[in-house]
Amino acid sequence: MFKFFTDKPKWYLNAVFYEIFLRSFKDGNGDGIGDLTGLTEKLDYLKELGVDCLWLCPIYPSPLKDNGYDISDFYSIDPVYGTLQEFKDLVKEVQKRGMRLIMDLVVNHTSDEHPWFQEARSNPDSPYRDYYVWSDTDEPYRDARIIFLDTESSNWAYDEEAGKYYWHRFYSSQPDLNYANPAVRSEMLNIIRHWLDLGIDGFRVDAVPYLFEEDGTNCENLPQTHEYLKQIREFVDRNYNDKVLICEANQPPADVVDYLGNGDEFHMAFHFPLMPKIFMGLRTGTRLPIEEAIKNTPAIPEETQWGTFLRNHDELTLEMVTPEEREWMWQEYAPEPRMRLNLGIRRRLAPLFDNNREMIMLANRLLFSLPGTPFLYYGDEIGMGDDVDLPDRNGVRTPMQWEAAEGAGFSTDPQPHTPVITRAPFSPESVNVEQQMQQAGSLWKQMQELIAIRKNEKVFQSNETEFVEHADERVMVFRRSKDKDEMLFVHNLSSDSIQFQVELPVFNDQKFVDLFSKDELRTNGDTLECTLSPFQSLYLKAG
Ligand code: BGC
Repeated sequence: MFKFFTDKPKWYLNAVFYEIFLRSFKDGNGDGIGDLTGLTEKLDYLKELGVDCLWLCPIYPSPLKDNGYDISDFYSIDPVYGTLQEFKDLVKEVQKRGMRLIMDLVVNHTSDEHPWFQEARSNPDSPYRDYYVWSDTDEPYRDARIIFLDTESSNWAYDEEAGKYYWHRFYSSQPDLNYANPAVRSEMLNIIRHWLDLGIDGFRVDAVPYLFEEDGTNCENLPQTHEYLKQIREFVDRNYNDKVLICEANQPPADVVDYLGNGDEFHMAFHFPLMPKIFMGLRTGTRLPIEEAIKNTPAIPEETQWGTFLRNHDELTLEMVTPEEREWMWQEYAPEPRMRLNLGIRRRLAPLFDNNREMIMLANRLLFSLPGTPFLYYGDEIGMGDDVDLPDRNGVRTPMQWEAAEGAGFSTDPQPHTPVITRAPFSPESVNVEQQMQQAGSLWKQMQELIAIRKNEKVFQSNETEFVEHADERVMVFRRSKDKDEMLFVHNLSSDSIQFQVELPVFNDQKFVDLFSKDELRTNGDTLECTLSPFQSLYLKAG
């Protein structure tokens, strides 16, 4: 028996999140850049898709050396995205539709163009000097790894003006904030207050493991970091109701789980190790890697939850697999070197599965049936492609394809900030929202149905999951229940058609309905027999 927790009423425990890279979502004013009014226009679309909570990637002023994760003012919105009033209107319209909105909170660093850093580097007496981590040499904290391996050779960069080195865990244009300084710690609380007061529902907190440094350690997951994160939680709980703090820590499960504390740190944490295992399971046609990842997932405190996902705005990270598995994943999913970035793969979901609809849906149906709260990435609901010729992670951040027309209905500007995908089979002619919303059986319709099932079924209100042991490694079977509701999930991970038989002692002469096909199935005694087509999933509801 594998259990996370039992009965939880908090909204984020069973919601569907949708990540929006605003710059590429919908341009409302024709300047070629996605913006707040564009997103507001598309809220009905998101409501119809069925998602509960929108996650907005950074929209703060930024020189865009890390696509907005390099912030030059935490308290305002970059005018290219709109005004404060437009932001307030967005929040109101989101709430009116019964949805929620969270934003990225980038705690670890600023842009080097942030006025704090500008002052810090030029004036040793400025209070901002101590907002950053300085050293006369590049010697300290030698045991900290480099994260952006393809571009950075050190976590220290020399600043001519200051005549000192400054510390950075990501690009050298992103100096780390100095959390040993109490002024930085209280500044971040002010930033949190500023945005929560505007009515948002919480934050996806970016890159949390690296807040403090300490010699002789790898400078990740330090006790001081946890202590401060708990202070953030305490601050949020004391001043607000029903908010969510989601932790982005690309770390092994045993370390990630610490970010949930005793239910007094983050409400949620992304489950990084599960994601690559889903891709491994589908390519090898066996359930073992996925089951292993779930079984190795530690229990989590009451009222906390995992955030599960297939793809997001970053590369498909392979930091959580062994070097051999990584090599294998690269060969299988990123055969060309330009598809690789740092320790990952810079491709979208549909191209990763060679645009094979059955595999795309199996990956989603697996994700939606396993424990955790699923996160979708914009465009994956229609199977958008990527552009590996674009630098960094820009190739997975191309304009949303709303219509078949040239430009995809993203903007009236014929030259958007980044080009629309034009290569078959992913060009707007074949992949767009408008067509798929009308077409029975489209990927969009299947995703809409999946989201609706996920939200209707009571078993998803609990994380309780019990795997059924059986001999055929190609098929994953597990049971989920909540009160009197029972469901059985059967996933064929392989490209084989399978005449499948499994013993289910708990389901004696039990009738089931598959929620996708509406077909009825029945156990004969305790034996379930069924035919599974390649990559087929059954969501069997007992009753
Ligand atoms: C974000 C990346 C970003 C990095 C540095 C990550 O965790 O998801 O997009 O480059 O933080 O801010």
